[in-house]
Amino acid sequence: MEKIIVKGGNKLSGEVNISSAKNSVLPIIVATILCPDKVIIQNSPMLEDVNVICNLLNELNCDINISKINNSLTINTENIIPADANSELIKKMRASFLIMGPMLARFGYCKLSLPGGCNIGSRPIDLHLKGFKALGADVNIGHGIVEASAKKLIGNRIYLDFPSVGATENILMASVLAEGTTIIENAAEEPEVWDLANFLISMGADIDGAGTGKIVINGVKTLKGITYKPIFDRIEAGTFMIAAAITNSIIKINGVNEEHLRPLIEKLKECGIIFTEKDDCIIVDGRGDKKPIDIKTMPYPGFPTDMQPQMMSLLSIINGSSIITETVFENRFMHVAELARMGSKIKIDGRTAFIEGVQNLTGCEVKATDLRAGAAMILAGLIAEGKTEINDIYHIDRGYINVEEKFKNLGADIIRISK
Ligand code: UD1
Repeated sequence: MEKIIVKGGNKLSGEVNISSAKNSVLPIIVATILCPDKVIIQNSPMLEDVNVICNLLNELNCDINISKINNSLTINTENIIPADANSELIKKMRASFLIMGPMLARFGYCKLSLPGGCNIGSRPIDLHLKGFKALGADVNIGHGIVEASAKKLIGNRIYLDFPSVGATENILMASVLAEGTTIIENAAEEPEVWDLANFLISMGADIDGAGTGKIVINGVKTLKGITYKPIFDRIEAGTFMIAAAITNSIIKINGVNEEHLRPLIEKLKECGIIFTEKDDCIIVDGRGDKKPIDIKTMPYPGFPTDMQPQMMSLLSIINGSSIITETVFENRFMHVAELARMGSKIKIDGRTAFIEGVQNLTGCEVKATDLRAGAAMILAGLIAEGKTEINDIYHIDRGYINVEEKFKNLGADIIRISK
């Protein structure tokens, strides 16, 4: 078991390069199932979640080559076989359920184990299944297994009760090869959905409106192999923005699509952080006085739930009262207990956290209760007095590549040790 140790108090300076978005790369890898040609995905961060999805495709008899030189993935799914419902890899990661859409499109059949809950909420899949049924699939659930089959998928109009990212992506992938037109209404507008659609369009799919609440897909007969570079990771970039803010530092972040980060940037500006934008980099000046703020997480373009824990670390040390309301996941306040161990003053009432800023946090032993909560612990550790020891860091490795190296290069006192 490994842990990350942060000694607080160092100012940060210099620049950091942002990797490609985990939440783009995962569905894009899965979407290669739709086409038997070779696909090259450039600049793929070799995160733990990416390893899991690559191992899953390997298990399904696909060829995957990982180039260590430019981190490109070459994937050939020509000889893919139907998924084994009992695969441990599918059970291991919720995003694996995204293979159902492309598998249904390619084989007219897919059987998978139901994804379990996770630390941040129950995370059902009813909307994914509603979409497959609307496209003409028979869907049966029993003994923890979902089985979907269709002689052929036929386009339909699908309204999502909630703009779920995963459901939008799964239905999008199922419908690109379906007969006729599919319309997804109240679709997720997240940049990663747009990126997946852009990838599919480059392969020859006919998709209009991705990145808005209404996506129109005209089914095509086949797709072709391509080379593709996914977008930058807005959540990784956002985490470094908060690192500058929390340490009263100025840093340059390379690999930022400022539009994707607007919901976070606007809130940080309200706090008193200054941004200078230039092409695809941004300078974040967190040296000024900071004000408390109120935040409500929402589907994009609202404030991202994946930035909520990191923002809580920052608000913990801003003088005054801040409020965070979490509307996307029902149980995403696990980090509050960990921040409390470090001296923060936060009260929870249902989905709302009331934060009273304290002057300083104190380092101690904490846990990464989930991926973004782990990032929040690193951020809190950067300004805490003394040593913060973060356990369960496998969560952090799911979504941040070379995390301690990136922070160390900025001047943080941070190391990873084996227990
Ligand atoms: C994706 C992201 C995750 C992010 C989340 C919300 C990936 C790999 N992960 O997760 O980092 O935190 O979007 O931005 O891209 N829901 C239903 N029924 C469904 C599906 C979802 O009720 O069929 C609910 C969930 O329980 C949750 C909400 O919708 O409360 C949002 O979930 P969703 O947008 O689907 O998140 P994921 O795709 O799992």
